[in-house]
Amino acid sequence: MSSQKTILITGASQGIGAGMVRTFLERGYNVVATSRRISETSGFDRSSPVALVDGDIGDPNTAEKVAGVAIDKFGSIDALVNNAGIFLTKPFLEYTIDDFRRLSSTNVEGFIHLTQLAVRQMLRQRTGGSIVSITTSLTDHPIAGVTASVAMITKGGINAITKNLAMEFAKDNIRVNAVAPGIVDTPLHENDPKDFLKTLSPMGTISGVQEIVNAVVYLTEAAGITGEVLHVDNGAHLGKW
Ligand SMILES: NC(=O)c1ccc[n+]([C@@H]2O[C@H](COP(=O)([O-])OP(=O)(O)OC[C@H]3O[C@@H](n4cnc5c(N)ncnc54)[C@H](OP(=O)(O)O)[C@@H]3O)[C@@H](O)[C@H]2O)c1
Repeated sequence: MSSQKTILITGASQGIGAGMVRTFLERGYNVVATSRRISETSGFDRSSPVALVDGDIGDPNTAEKVAGVAIDKFGSIDALVNNAGIFLTKPFLEYTIDDFRRLSSTNVEGFIHLTQLAVRQMLRQRTGGSIVSITTSLTDHPIAGVTASVAMITKGGINAITKNLAMEFAKDNIRVNAVAPGIVDTPLHENDPKDFLKTLSPMGTISGVQEIVNAVVYLTEAAGITGEVLHVDNGAHLGKW
């Protein structure tokens, strides 16, 4: 067992999640990293204190496995990043109920399963903790032509539960925050032309993964901050540009 802090990171095989695994390891955390196929796809240094758990985050068994590995291997759960997420745009009239269920399973049910187990363990430890989730600035600041309405039920829901849990667990010193990116350069956008993506930001730029990672690190370690949705979106939440 170690006295280092242990963080759970979902959606950790690539993109923002993989960047978080590297940075939290550099900062001396034990990391439990999970995604459906993380053991096949990740290039993490196996000699570092990282445990990889394969599984669909919408399946409660995955959360059980992740929390179990954290306790067995590292002895605590001190922080969680709910990063696993899928995104989908189509005109509202074309969404199917299966689209909604798929989005809900990963973006919302995944949040519930693992956050419940993490909070339960943090309460047992009595040392507080941090939960940070990745949402998007599109929840409250839609962009004409980016038709993500049904996907935004799920991400907007996470912003809402972030504030509600921040209040529910404030006295336990469990802080609950979110980071809301604009457009981030990850495999999620591998088929979208960069010139188009740049038009979705007032600053005319696409964020690098590390910008989002730095915001997550800040909130994870910011003792007095809870219930915050931190926009890292090159100004997109400001409105028309
Ligand atoms: N990129 C952006 O512009 C942007 C903007 C705003 C918000 N975000 C949010 O930021 C988060 C990360 O995005 P990203 O761009 O890094 O995405 P990404 O490159 O598509 O990576 C998504 C990660 O989630 C995992 N994942 C997907 N479905 C899963 C499931 N059902 N169960 C478990 N793991 C699953 C994937 O691994 P496996 O395939 O191995 O499961 C992968 O590690 C998401 O919540 C996304 O909505 C991204």
